Amino acid sequence: MLAALVAAVLIPGGLWARGKTGNARIKVDIERQKGEIDRNIYGNFVEHLGRCIYGGLYEPGSPLSDEKGYRRDVLEATRALRTSLVRWPGGNFVSGYHWEDGIGPQAGRPTRIDLAWGFRESNAFGTDEFVEWCRRAATEPYFCVNLGTGTMDEARNWVEYCNVEKGTYWSDLRRRNGYEKPHKVKYWALGNEMDGQWQMGHKNAEDYGKFALETAKLMKWIDRDIKLVVAGSSDYNGNWIDWNRTVLEYLKNHADYIALHNYVENRSNDYYKFMATTRFAEKAIRITEGLIAEAMTKAERKDPIYIAFDEYNVWYRAKGEEGNEEVYNLEDALVVSTFLNIFVRNAHVVKMANMAQLVNVIAPIFSTKEGSWYQTIFYPLQLFATHCHGTSLDTFVDCDTYALGGERIPYLDVSAAYDNEAGEVIVNVTNRHREQAITTDILCQTGRFGGKATVYEVNGPDIKAENSMTRQAVKTVTKEAQARGDRFTYAFPAHSFTLIRIPVVTD
Ligand code: AHR
Repeated sequence: MLAALVAAVLIPGGLWARGKTGNARIKVDIERQKGEIDRNIYGNFVEHLGRCIYGGLYEPGSPLSDEKGYRRDVLEATRALRTSLVRWPGGNFVSGYHWEDGIGPQAGRPTRIDLAWGFRESNAFGTDEFVEWCRRAATEPYFCVNLGTGTMDEARNWVEYCNVEKGTYWSDLRRRNGYEKPHKVKYWALGNEMDGQWQMGHKNAEDYGKFALETAKLMKWIDRDIKLVVAGSSDYNGNWIDWNRTVLEYLKNHADYIALHNYVENRSNDYYKFMATTRFAEKAIRITEGLIAEAMTKAERKDPIYIAFDEYNVWYRAKGEEGNEEVYNLEDALVVSTFLNIFVRNAHVVKMANMAQLVNVIAPIFSTKEGSWYQTIFYPLQLFATHCHGTSLDTFVDCDTYALGGERIPYLDVSAAYDNEAGEVIVNVTNRHREQAITTDILCQTGRFGGKATVYEVNGPDIKAENSMTRQAVKTVTKEAQARGDRFTYAFPAHSFTLIRIPVVTD
């Protein structure tokens, strides 16, 4: 009794009323399934912005590049990240992009002024270069069409160029350009952030809804197998709920996903506030899920509409600077891990997510003329993409909380999955506590734990620790432990992200 009282006094937040052992608790039950985790929630994004494409993916003449000009080290890092699909070519850039500029012999391609970011676009890297890069990176292309300054014809011709085998103007042009086989691009976004005043060709919801619907019809008539992503709102200061409702109303029979975007920041340098910023993303998902349900009551189609969270990250230090080359620290990596927890927790409706971006520009991979290295945010994404597959589980979490603006924020942010093939549960835990490890009982509700658990921990010396070309201060460390019976007790270290794979026996 006295010992419990002392623990309650000594440990910030107190550990009273926490069951027999006084530990935090996470209950996992392989029968409480929320939905299949789509591999596409571990995607990225590359835009013609700063050194993302030129100097990132593509640098002809560099000793680090292959015969086609693709940076070999960046390809290797992308494969190591196991990114499932990559969105291209923007972003804001796409709203002034005309894809025909970027095909055929490179010498004949026009240089254009890009009005989104204010630079010159040589068009040396275009459709065929991107698709070929994706093949080498073992990832899938996801295109975004120009619904700002572009036309419906441009959009449907792009589908024809990429996906029709032969015998038409655009497919035969692709073949003459050296690509006999169709690119088979499955995922297409109907414009980018069209609700934003900053967007070239910005529209109101009605105008965008009508235009996107007519474009969608033409694109699907060219190739019925493509999947379309309607642009949801990204301007959360505006009437974002009305926008999403309106565009879903227009596209309810044609779009397969609605896009959400969210960037978070820590300008006020308030660690605990920053750690809770991604809660808004979960709220936006819940609200949009409701709007989808509403639209579906009036739809003719029966297959569901999902959410594509196709831009997310931490972005504030380098925002507005020419290169937008954010250098990330440990606290950023923890925040990214909470985004990923959210996508897994909502795997029944979030079927695609793309970290913005992939290389140099607000990115997990950083390249220089000499080589490339992993930013802190690389590690949680790599762990999720490598290990967190199967079915998302509905978990129960009981842990201490902290106060933030009238809300209570749990120190532990948790998601879980059941990998049926491996017979393992995957438990993902971000410990937001800056100073304290949190000892936690992970309780198995169906079957029992049986065997060697593998623990992957992302952590570093302090929350501001950064990586560089010469030092990986923040990285993944792997450990093993025995897990048997109905309880596995683990102390999640202060300011850490941990992914644990634990075998479950059900007979
Ligand atoms: O990822 C950077 C930019 O952020 C994208 O171009 C735009 O879509 C968003 O506002």
